Amino acid sequence: MKNIMKLASIALVLLFTLFGLTNKASAAKLTLYCSVEIDVCEMLEQAYEKETGTKVAMTRASSGETFAKIKAESSNPKGDVWFGGTGDPHLTAAQENLTAEYKSKHFNDLLPAAQNQAVNANYKSVGIYVGALGFGYNKELLAKKGLPAPKSWMDLTKPIYKGEIQIANPNSSGTAYTTLATIIQIFGEDKGWDYMKALHLNVNTYTKSGSAPIKATGRGENLIGICFQHDGVKQTKKGLPVVTVSPAEGTGYEVGSMSIIAGARNMKEAKKFYDWALSPPIQTMVFTSGKSLQVPSNTKAQADPDAPDLSTINLIDYNFKVYGDKSTRAGLLSKWDNDVSVIPR
Ligand code: F6P
Repeated sequence: MKNIMKLASIALVLLFTLFGLTNKASAAKLTLYCSVEIDVCEMLEQAYEKETGTKVAMTRASSGETFAKIKAESSNPKGDVWFGGTGDPHLTAAQENLTAEYKSKHFNDLLPAAQNQAVNANYKSVGIYVGALGFGYNKELLAKKGLPAPKSWMDLTKPIYKGEIQIANPNSSGTAYTTLATIIQIFGEDKGWDYMKALHLNVNTYTKSGSAPIKATGRGENLIGICFQHDGVKQTKKGLPVVTVSPAEGTGYEVGSMSIIAGARNMKEAKKFYDWALSPPIQTMVFTSGKSLQVPSNTKAQADPDAPDLSTINLIDYNFKVYGDKSTRAGLLSKWDNDVSVIPR
């Protein structure tokens, strides 16, 4: 009798262990590569987990870094969705078949710029927000140094700002790549590269992330940071002495994007997250949280009242097809590495 009882309890333990294991194995999972600000990535991770019960494994890295990671992992993809970051590397990823085709049920409600991103990517990407490029300065530091307020891209190359400017490295950062592409579109190839060389002489540090320069500016560790205007306004909203400038010559912009990674291990979950992230309530949550001041791509979602008003900004006709192209991107980055970044300062 004792032996029978023993055997029965062993069988029960085995049964529960097995049940626990299969239960764990069937719990939905999503691996999210996130290229917006870390506070926004965490907000998305937590909200999705709470709403769906799916376990999200999130990694935050800048646009160019994430592109490189997805490319390096392409023979054995580990990520499911790439959320955020500038649209150009998402287009390159689509061209290289690193991302998968999917048309969201929210497509018809999206801004034309967000739909164009999908069309240009053969539906292997889509726009989730739009934001204009610019720069910001610390007004207290500016007054202390007795310097004039910069108003244009050209102003940033003046010798009075030597060592006073920060921008990210265009290899890792979508913000800095958008800057490079914007300068070439505004000034043309030759003058554009001359501009990048002159700017280089005034740069104190090239950071990895695009928003790092304006954060350092907010903390008073740097005078001028080249950034997306929404990232400048975010610092001001925090109570920091940052003034955001829309450059006089006009400026480029991004269509921040989202793509499903080709060969995603959790494809069903990836599509579910994609639709969720484009839905009006989620976009309203993200873009009115005070953490993310871009313009949401879903026309039924709300933006933050302090989000830069794109209709009042002199935006250039940014050529996403050209600057998102694989060979254009590789060419610009290698020229910047070889001809600009190496100039002694
Ligand atoms: O999240 C803020 C933001 O400026 C986005 O609008 C943009 O897509 C992203 O950061 C670019 O980051 P990075 O320059 O680091 O790639």
